[in-house]
Amino acid sequence: MGDPGAGLRRRATFSAIRNQTEAGSGGSSGACGPAGTARSSSTDITKQNGLHASQARSKHDKRKRRNDHSGRLSCHQQQESLLSSSSGFINYRGILNWCVILLVLSNARLFLENLLKYGILVDPIQVISLFVKDPYSWPAACLVIVSNVFILAALYTERQLSKGSLSEHAGLLVHSFNLSIILSFPAVVILLVPSISPVGSAFALGTYTVLLLKLYSYKDVNRWCRELSSIKAKTLSRSLSCPSAQHLSGGDQKICYPGNLTIRDLYYFVFAPTLCYELNFPRSPKIRMSFLLRRLFEMLFLTQLLVGLTQQWMIPIIQSSMKPLEDMDLSRMMERLLRLAVPNHLLWLIFFYWFFHSSLNFNAELLRFGDRQFYKDWWNSETVTYFWQNWNIPVHKWCLRHFYKPLLRKGFSKMASQSAVFFLSAFFHEYLVSVPLRMFRLWAFMGMMAQLPLAWLVGHFLRGNYGNAAVWISLIIGQPFAVLMYVHDYYVLHYRQETG
Ligand SMILES: CC(C)(COP(=O)(O)OP(=O)(O)OC[C@H]1O[C@@H](n2cnc3c(N)ncnc32)[C@H](O)[C@@H]1OP(=O)(O)O)[C@@H](O)C(=O)NCCC(=O)NCCS
Repeated sequence: MGDPGAGLRRRATFSAIRNQTEAGSGGSSGACGPAGTARSSSTDITKQNGLHASQARSKHDKRKRRNDHSGRLSCHQQQESLLSSSSGFINYRGILNWCVILLVLSNARLFLENLLKYGILVDPIQVISLFVKDPYSWPAACLVIVSNVFILAALYTERQLSKGSLSEHAGLLVHSFNLSIILSFPAVVILLVPSISPVGSAFALGTYTVLLLKLYSYKDVNRWCRELSSIKAKTLSRSLSCPSAQHLSGGDQKICYPGNLTIRDLYYFVFAPTLCYELNFPRSPKIRMSFLLRRLFEMLFLTQLLVGLTQQWMIPIIQSSMKPLEDMDLSRMMERLLRLAVPNHLLWLIFFYWFFHSSLNFNAELLRFGDRQFYKDWWNSETVTYFWQNWNIPVHKWCLRHFYKPLLRKGFSKMASQSAVFFLSAFFHEYLVSVPLRMFRLWAFMGMMAQLPLAWLVGHFLRGNYGNAAVWISLIIGQPFAVLMYVHDYYVLHYRQETG
């Protein structure tokens, strides 16, 4: 009661609040009011403007000083700490840089250790010998050349179907036969011809698998075109087998069924970076030379890096893990797994960029293929399902269009259709690993089938960052586990037989 300073402080606080309110609500009118008057009454506009500008400036300075006073009085507001998830803060770029620096430093130590222990192991000549065992015999290349026969057989069948010389049923039989040969022929050759190397056979088998999926799509789309043409014939509506050309660029001609049944059109599809056929692919207007050269440089550089890291880092670790697992305890097994996990994961990431970004974009740019969505943001996957929907878009698109949706349309449940897709994918993973290694162990098959229960577990029990961490851990640990299993079995099959 007897404190005069308190009364002064209260008056100062009230006046500060009043000023703050004025500045907030009527601040702009205060600044504009005199200027408005000046505009209506003045004849010497420049002079008046200068006067009013200086008046406005001094008013603005006064207001700023008043706000400074009020700012000095209150400096808090209700807010969350940045690291709380409720703060909504998501910019962790600095932390990401820190992680990268830490990763480089820790791997530099490993790199030096590796160099001191093994010396330089990188040998580019050895890479050529992986593809070719005998310089006068090229079975893998011959297999790839022979694949043209199946491409032409598919085209011939489609032409006959379009002319009506072959019934739909007979056409389906011919296509099924052609596709079965594409699946079995390279596998039989690889298993019977000893001069074919594992890397060469993996390349040939990969080429045939891609061709199989492409020709399956080709057969489906042409059949859909015939079905749509017959609907058109019945309803006399506009051609449905001639899809909208809105995504075509300037000079490109719209193709209608059966005008698409040409060697040029089929070979464009065979070389295009997609597994799903379309009559009129989206096309980019021109080839951008700088983009093409950048991708080419990346491809060459990353190929060297992949080869170098495999020879210098992966192979010594794999060789030291050759001892069969039955002789070891669990902790030794875990130690081997974790030692392999880092180089394996790094190589997988480099491979992802090399294939899905550099190579497919290079291929697309060269062919002026417009759809460049080869991958989406799988690294943000919070569920296993999201990962499979986003990491390999060409395969996912094919699975959806030619396998999953047709099964759903036939009345199969979502669960059964998803299981069927993963079963098919597991079969091809096993096929691509077992046949070149000439060793059937089902590790790749089981790894792929294990995705279904894993997806269920992660989807039901983990959310957000925990889900994302679970997806990363499954990638980092799951793959080297499968690699170790194959290495172990390869050792038992080849090394034990030799010593035994
Ligand atoms: C199995 C798989 C195809 C499921 O995909 P998904 O996106 O989770 O499937 P969804 O159930 O969400 O449905 C996808 C589509 O089917 C449609 N659909 C759903 N029910 C449908 C029905 N009864 N009839 C017709 N369409 C239906 C959806 O509308 C959706 O269409 P859209 O893509 O045009 O939006 C996917 O997980 C996959 O591709 N897995 C294998 C991947 C793989 O092996 N990759 C190998 C990489 S090396």
